[in-house]
Amino acid sequence: MVCRFAFIKGEAGIYYFSETAEHESCFFRTKSGVLSCAEDRCAHRGAALCIGKLQGECIQCPFHGIQYDTEGKGTFVPALGKSSAADLGRFHLIFHRTKEEFGIIYLWFGEGEPDKAIPFFRDELDGSVVYSELEDCWNAFYSRCVENQLDVIHLPFVHYNTIGRGNKTLVNGPKVLFEHETIITSANNEVDRGQTPKTAEESVIRETYLKFIFPNLWMNHISEKFRVVIFFAPVDESRTVLYIRFYSSLSRFKCINRIIAIFGRIGNRIIERQDRRVVITQKLKVSEYHSNEKLLPGDRPVILYRRLRDELKQQNAAAGS
Ligand code: FES
Ligand SMILES: [Fe+2]
Repeated sequence: MVCRFAFIKGEAGIYYFSETAEHESCFFRTKSGVLSCAEDRCAHRGAALCIGKLQGECIQCPFHGIQYDTEGKGTFVPALGKSSAADLGRFHLIFHRTKEEFGIIYLWFGEGEPDKAIPFFRDELDGSVVYSELEDCWNAFYSRCVENQLDVIHLPFVHYNTIGRGNKTLVNGPKVLFEHETIITSANNEVDRGQTPKTAEESVIRETYLKFIFPNLWMNHISEKFRVVIFFAPVDESRTVLYIRFYSSLSRFKCINRIIAIFGRIGNRIIERQDRRVVITQKLKVSEYHSNEKLLPGDRPVILYRRLRDELKQQNAAAGS
């Protein structure tokens, strides 16, 4: 079972979303705010619902006007007339359960109801913290994108003129923790003056640290006042959409925090484009725990991520067999 989100927010209306060439979805949000997601294919003769219309709390197919409710059930077939007692049960869209939390829409591709709460940094971020957001599609598998955000070695190279300024190429540790299903790590890099790098045990989690919650949520805790959060949405083996937020609680005044967040978004765009430029070149596309890559001690957060992801994949496979 997979829980993924599709896109952020949306007013009342109809939205088209293509996950792959074979998998196209139609989202519609009714005036009352209910959001629904179905495959973009009418049960009658397969027309695309995304070019249809909203009719009250239903979506209407553009071809012959069949209407469907927010659970994908056919409610009206105009050709049969209002007085018809036709069996509408056979007009049923392929429907995906949705859940909206934290301004994000999640899709549930599994059977029944989701078996876990949606992950978020609930202890650190609530609805009162102001944020700006941006999105970008990277031509990379999502595990490569996640690994990049846990990578403390790349900072002085990829971000040599931004967050990695200072030529701190020597990587101490890093310390890596796994607590409450969350990976926590922190960069302890230093300028190389010929000293021996510290071990993970000698390294510390600093005020600026990174967190990751499976399957796809990351945070850079820059300080108590500033955080960056990324939701990684896998599209296929060679595409991932990153939804990036910059949270600011520097000021008591929300309007000031909003202005700060706008600048944060500009900075985030520059930084994520520095990352993207390199990550999309990685071979192989899909990273795995068991690989031929020659890893370094500084890759410990990446190795832990790979190991845990591998375990989850195995659990998933065992549950499905
Ligand atoms: S194809 Fe949708 S109503 Fe006919
Ligand atoms: Fe980076």
